[in-house]
Amino acid sequence: MPEKIKLQKFLDELPIPKTISPVKRSNDWTYYEVTMKEFTQKLHRDLPPTRLWGYEGTYPGPTFDVMQNETVFVKWMNNLPKKHFLPIDTTIHGSEITLPEGRTVVHLHGATTPPHSDGYPEAWFTRNFEQTGPLFQREIYGYPNIDRATTLWYHDHTIGITRLNIYAGLAGFYLIRDKHEESLNLPKGRYEVPLLIQDRSFNPDGSLYYPSCPDNKDVCTPYPSLVPPFDADTILVNGKVWPYMEVEPRKYRFRILNASNGRILTLKLDSGEPLNQIGSDGGFLEQPVKMNEIVLGSAERADVIVDFSRYTGQTITLKNVTKSASPETTDVMQFRVTVPLRSEDTSSIPAYLGKINRLTRNMAQRTRDLPLIRIKDEYGRSLNLLSGKMWNDRISEVIGVDTVEIWRLINVIDDDPHPIHVHLVDFQILDRQPFDVALFQRTGKLMFTGPASPPEPNEMGLKDTVQTPFGYVTSIIARFGPFTGRYVWHCHMLEHEDYEMMRPFEVVRDKNRWL
Ligand code: C2O
Ligand code: CU
Repeated sequence: MPEKIKLQKFLDELPIPKTISPVKRSNDWTYYEVTMKEFTQKLHRDLPPTRLWGYEGTYPGPTFDVMQNETVFVKWMNNLPKKHFLPIDTTIHGSEITLPEGRTVVHLHGATTPPHSDGYPEAWFTRNFEQTGPLFQREIYGYPNIDRATTLWYHDHTIGITRLNIYAGLAGFYLIRDKHEESLNLPKGRYEVPLLIQDRSFNPDGSLYYPSCPDNKDVCTPYPSLVPPFDADTILVNGKVWPYMEVEPRKYRFRILNASNGRILTLKLDSGEPLNQIGSDGGFLEQPVKMNEIVLGSAERADVIVDFSRYTGQTITLKNVTKSASPETTDVMQFRVTVPLRSEDTSSIPAYLGKINRLTRNMAQRTRDLPLIRIKDEYGRSLNLLSGKMWNDRISEVIGVDTVEIWRLINVIDDDPHPIHVHLVDFQILDRQPFDVALFQRTGKLMFTGPASPPEPNEMGLKDTVQTPFGYVTSIIARFGPFTGRYVWHCHMLEHEDYEMMRPFEVVRDKNRWL
């Protein structure tokens, strides 16, 4: 563990990431260039500048702001050093092959992207494209932006080191807007604020602390027995440690993203004012939901409206009330209602946000049972696996394009819920149902021990990441398409993802290949 440093809270103002401007724009497409670099940045008034890796040399990266159906091309350029500044573990994926440390590949999380541009973990490349991974490398990625208006984010997805690259700073927002959103009269402009929440630990010299060993210890045994997610001790929002924001007494829209490696956030305002949730991972809910608390696992988003109109002169703290949080990490940021109202607040919280066409069980051509289990690998180390398989095992999910499938995520790992993310699709949560874990482990038989509960009201929209609690079957349903090709699904606790809790799947046209 690092030498503890005490940082005073609420000293720095919340930064708003800059919106990136395209290099070229035509009637048919928009073209951006983004360079990944090493740089230093002040993350807290009393902390020396911190060495980071980031898109365009900023942390978080710049925000993309695009329209639905706008064709966007991005040239992702790697100008990172050859050596990582965070501790690399070469035992990952059971292989002793050492891959270049400065490798990277970018994934647009939550987007419907063709496979060549989805950031397949093995499509990595190093500085100036000198070395490349074994699959799907290309220098310019294309995004059709066919999703509904929503809050997406882009981040690193490199095989074996995603946890280190994101921890180093490689993450940013990507917003898709559409005409319908425009008609909703939501708070906008300076009143629409993205909040990227992450935890980090620091050494006294300002450098990032990340444990040297996968079991979160600093002295490594060759094959440690457990790979827990790393929970750091400091909370940052938009790259500042425990910041504050001065607001007007009116409504604000916050697009909240939990971009922590593994920490589960339970967000709540200490004034008791509700968070009016209007959207989740895949865009707007059908109607706003008043939430006293919002739980966000790694990668999940919540689009919320907060009304500060009754709080002139007061200070409200955004809290993280997750039970396992330390007293330090229960604070997230502060809102100070100290700015006089510039003009009357004419924005609204619409009573109805739009229709979501729900997929139903009878539309599914296939149901897959996908257990989340913990095994001991050949080195005696405990690993969490998806359907009992390692990353390099043969592909087992081959899906017909445009078919609907139900995935039953059967979690027998007695631990925190795993946030499971599926690329390419937006899915819907059908329900969660408790089952007899011991019986399942002994015989592989599913026996339910209680009724199925429907998703929470704020989970009724489109999702790309879902909480799968221990002892429950979490059922999700999705239509796989419109693209064919190779994608991944994985636990979004990045330490799990890097240590085998990720699997490929393939969408195919040819019926004979369905698996
Ligand atoms: Cu946010 Cu596969 O990733
Ligand atoms: Cu996990």
